[in-house]
Amino acid sequence: MTPEELKALVRTVPDFPAPGILFRDITTLISHGTGLAASIGHLARMAQDAGAEAIAGMEARGFIFGAAVAAHMGLGFVPVRKPGKLPVKTIGIDYALEYGRDRLEIDPTAIPAGQRVVIIDDLIATGGTALAATELLRTAGADVTHALFVIDLPDLHGAARLRDAGLTVEALMD
Ligand code: PRP
Ligand code: ADE
Repeated sequence: MTPEELKALVRTVPDFPAPGILFRDITTLISHGTGLAASIGHLARMAQDAGAEAIAGMEARGFIFGAAVAAHMGLGFVPVRKPGKLPVKTIGIDYALEYGRDRLEIDPTAIPAGQRVVIIDDLIATGGTALAATELLRTAGADVTHALFVIDLPDLHGAARLRDAGLTVEALMD
């Protein structure tokens, strides 16, 4: 399936989780077997071109695509987690969302020093989540140069913020 065909599988829900937010819901994309497989195939090709040695994905929706891409490529997956979930000493960072604030944490020992880690998430809005993940992964010694998304919301300028931080940003659809 083409990215244009995949875009038709994304559902838009107004006023979730807060008034004025147009929520781009991937439930309808990932429940479509061919759509899910095609999304993973496109992202895996992009990650291959980026020289990925490992994939990192952000809880929770980033786990769906990130872990599937990692398995497709035979690479390891680094979970970037919401606070208090990892059973070991973590490094963490607070960040702002389109609709609130949150915190991400990683196990810094999950990444061999200098490894090229490609970030994968379902969606980039303000870019706060991906920037926070980039900073954490770089603090842990990863070489982070690429962030890949299924959906970019260009009006929120997240991709531009990531590019300012030196990242190459690609998405399957706007
Ligand atoms: C969503 C989405 C991205 C992030 C994008 O996750 O999956 O991770 O928001 O927003 P940003 O570019 O403005 O940071 P959310 O925190 O809602 O969590 P979820 O994956 O658990 O639904
Ligand atoms: N995460 C941040 N903004 C979002 C949106 N508009 N739709 C879905 N997920 C999001």
